[in-house]
Amino acid sequence: MSSSKTMEAKNPRLNQLFDDLVGTLRAFIRKHHITHEEFRRTVAHLNEAGATGEIPLMMDVFLEATVDRVDSEGRGGTETCVEGPFYVPGAPAMKSPCVLPHRANEPGEVLIFSGLVRSTDGAALPGAVVDIWQADAQGAYSHFNIPEADAPYNLRARVGTDQDGRFEVRTWVPASYEIPKAGPTGKLLAAMGRHAWRPAHIHLRITHENSQTLTTQIFLAGDPWIDSDVVGAVKGSLVVGLEKHDNPADLRKLGLVRPYYTLSYDFVLPRRMAKAA
Ligand SMILES: [Fe+2]
Repeated sequence: MSSSKTMEAKNPRLNQLFDDLVGTLRAFIRKHHITHEEFRRTVAHLNEAGATGEIPLMMDVFLEATVDRVDSEGRGGTETCVEGPFYVPGAPAMKSPCVLPHRANEPGEVLIFSGLVRSTDGAALPGAVVDIWQADAQGAYSHFNIPEADAPYNLRARVGTDQDGRFEVRTWVPASYEIPKAGPTGKLLAAMGRHAWRPAHIHLRITHENSQTLTTQIFLAGDPWIDSDVVGAVKGSLVVGLEKHDNPADLRKLGLVRPYYTLSYDFVLPRRMAKAA
């Protein structure tokens, strides 16, 4: 038909990808002798994922790490990592150094997280925006499993780098956590006898007008789930050890009574690609 030819000419990549996807799935059905019963259960499962709003979670858990690896090939600079489903835009803008928004009784160990943001050509990037989000010391995210009204933007902020391209925030050591288990994603993992844990990490999305945006995560070395992340997103260059500080004079200086931790990492952003003439 001429109408389908017209559409094919309009978007050849969509046509090619769709044909390959359907062809791959048909080959999969033949290879595994998928039955009507299994097909209907799959459709019902996907329907439940849609009805419960879990499509983003399910896609992020099983596929986003692969998209990240493919899409960042040859990029340069700090390695990227998946954004995941817990990003919330519009976190409070703060100037470095600062303390992330937190509850009066924020649980856990204090963490001072600092870093330099620079370009792949070596230049520091003052005025970069470091958008940080993380789980708390019990593995919970604000706006998701901490009610928004109780603690809006808890442990989330957009922090500007100073004139030297540096930032420093006081936060709390994040815990490893299980992805939501009550819905279809968790039920699928349970049916296969697989765990739902992500190793402890801090999410970052770093933007600068002259650079490509860096979306990544910093993982805490020694986490028991570091080698079996349910999302499969851990990259060795993003695993960093915490340094413990328990010198009483240091603690007094910071107004702390318990040991605290520091973490430092330098983030390198590729230059924004020149627009084609
Ligand atoms: Fe996360």
